[in-house]
Amino acid sequence: MIPKEDIDKIFEAARVEEVVGDYVTLKKRGVNLIGLCPFHDEKTPSFYVSPVKGIYKCFGCGKGGHAINFMMEKELMSYPDALRHLAKKYNIQITEEEQTPEQLQSQNDRESLFVVSSYAQKKFSENLYTTDEGKSVGLGYFKERGFREDIIQKFQLGYSLSKRTAFSDSAIKEGYKLEYLVKAGLTIEYKNENELHSGNGENEEKRTEQEENLQLSKYADRFWGRVMFPVHNATGRVIAFGGRTLRTDKKTAKYINSPETAIYHKSDVLYGIFFAKKEINSQDNCFLVEGYTDVISMFQAGVENVVASSGTSLTVGQIKLIRRFTNNITILYDGDSAGIKASFRGIDLILEEGMNVKVLLFPDGEDPDSYSKRVNSEELKAFIKNNSKDFISFKTNLLMDEVQNDPIKKAGLIKEIVQSIALIPEAIYRSVYVKECSRIMDMEETILLNELNKIRSKRFNEKSHQSSKSTENTIISEEFKIEEKKQVGTASAEHQERDIIRLLLNYGNKNVMVDGEETDVDNKPIQIEITLAELIVHELENDGIVLENPLYKSVFTEFVQHLGKDKVLDYNYFISHENIAICALAVDLISSPYSLAKWEQHSIYTTLEENILKKSLYNAVYALKSRKLEMMIHDIQKRLKENPAEEELIRLMQTQHQLLEAKKTFNALLGRIVVK
Ligand code: CTP
Ligand code: MN
Repeated sequence: MIPKEDIDKIFEAARVEEVVGDYVTLKKRGVNLIGLCPFHDEKTPSFYVSPVKGIYKCFGCGKGGHAINFMMEKELMSYPDALRHLAKKYNIQITEEEQTPEQLQSQNDRESLFVVSSYAQKKFSENLYTTDEGKSVGLGYFKERGFREDIIQKFQLGYSLSKRTAFSDSAIKEGYKLEYLVKAGLTIEYKNENELHSGNGENEEKRTEQEENLQLSKYADRFWGRVMFPVHNATGRVIAFGGRTLRTDKKTAKYINSPETAIYHKSDVLYGIFFAKKEINSQDNCFLVEGYTDVISMFQAGVENVVASSGTSLTVGQIKLIRRFTNNITILYDGDSAGIKASFRGIDLILEEGMNVKVLLFPDGEDPDSYSKRVNSEELKAFIKNNSKDFISFKTNLLMDEVQNDPIKKAGLIKEIVQSIALIPEAIYRSVYVKECSRIMDMEETILLNELNKIRSKRFNEKSHQSSKSTENTIISEEFKIEEKKQVGTASAEHQERDIIRLLLNYGNKNVMVDGEETDVDNKPIQIEITLAELIVHELENDGIVLENPLYKSVFTEFVQHLGKDKVLDYNYFISHENIAICALAVDLISSPYSLAKWEQHSIYTTLEENILKKSLYNAVYALKSRKLEMMIHDIQKRLKENPAEEELIRLMQTQHQLLEAKKTFNALLGRIVVK
């Protein structure tokens, strides 16, 4: 934790022009500076920095923010890491929370594990080039698999010698402590001799003749006689290894992996993330494959935004890791993969995180590794481009094929598909998927919508129930979390207000049709076209609703003021706002999971009708109104408890009744609008 005072100091000290200036050549233009945008390719500068406002912005690609955003964006750093980085640059001492001796000790322990892991990586790589065994067996194997020299170097591949204590011996000789070798999972320590000789330690392999002759030792290497794949964390430090045997006998496990250690939590790690993150970010998509060799082969073929979950099924931790760099995942499957259906649960987790999922099936008998070797780089890229399918449609099609004309099975299928759609946090997306599925299944949309509403309300009830009973770490989407909070406390309409601002910033200048005041000959209102911003402002002002969060309020007020001047503001205006807090808010809200622009490129996008947009808007507006009513009711109930005089009591009760009725109306409206 970095204390608030230090964060403030860093914000004060970090000059945006200096921070950006480390990466971009800036030229002065009046009070501002301009240069070539570091986030996209360009020949004429559309990137500008305003030292006065403390922000940068690119008119070409739209990226913008303050100095800290810049570091996060440019170096793909987390917020605290960006702060630490800048603190160093500006010599600001961060007084990170006082650490207890235990905390310090565990930090040192972790650091030691990094150190021995890094040593091991170097040792294994060195074996590959400087030992006869490494050269002939290890390097020979990689060459035979077609791995290029630069790729072997880049992924820091290596080889563990077949002598069972070769690595540990050399590490100890170099002064590394046995304790840390063991804690890092590199060495296995035996408490007594029997263990080693019965061969039932963690090493699964049968001893060879050579081992019989091995002098008695208290420890042995976990990896021996294997080609080594170091696993890096997102910042590029080695945290674990996978070792592949070169033997073909079935008794030997093909891969041995490091155990869980203080620096290696399998469920939060993806193989290849360090090498892939830049490209994931710039391609705005991440390919997910099964194993080490798939990653390396795809990378070698020029597809660099690729990571592997390494044989295990996908976890929430891994999804969150990808989410730091993109909201789009494409899962690649072997042609003969029996595991596709089994992976549906993992994919549901991704949907639940609010990410977009595509799937790609390789031809029969091929996996990403074999396929990327058989075709050239262009063919591979074209294949991926032409065969990636949106997950929901893929799942629908796949299951539809199975049920054919069996109506009962079909009913089960509808449930199953809708279950997945119901996980998607954003209403607009759910809505488009429902449309698409109704088309594929040739089934009325309303039936799917009913089912969807049922599932969502059931799930919501379950979740709020569960969380009140236990703190068990269940997977609850953001939206559910927020709705829970809403149920618990009635203190603020924070979330609803934020949602209104999010809609304003993202879609405020989109047009929608509404009933006007004029009527036609049949006395029907004539439809007029207005902007979403106008509609929202109209809706809120009509009911005299005032936003309470000062930040949201000032954004809203600016919208209103500019509407008076016939101008609809968009996020570009706010992203370069002179108020840094507003600027940060805008950056935050427009970089939240979805934007229309991306959606429009999406393959299943058919028509994102203004209709959907309008419904999202009413959804947000009614949610806010309903929330405000709740707060008023809460207030009245508080006053009722204070034993008011009779007259006052009656007045309060009457008001309460009216408010409850109004709330019912809004909730009914909300219920109808939620998923449409
Ligand atoms: N895996 C593992 N332990 C095993 C088998 C597999 O950890 N006993 C993981 C590895 O991450 C492996 C991935 O699952 O990369 C996929 O398995 P597989 O396809 O068998 O391995 P490949 O890496 O493709 O190896 P190769 O192509 O050399 O057979
Ligand atoms: Mn393989």
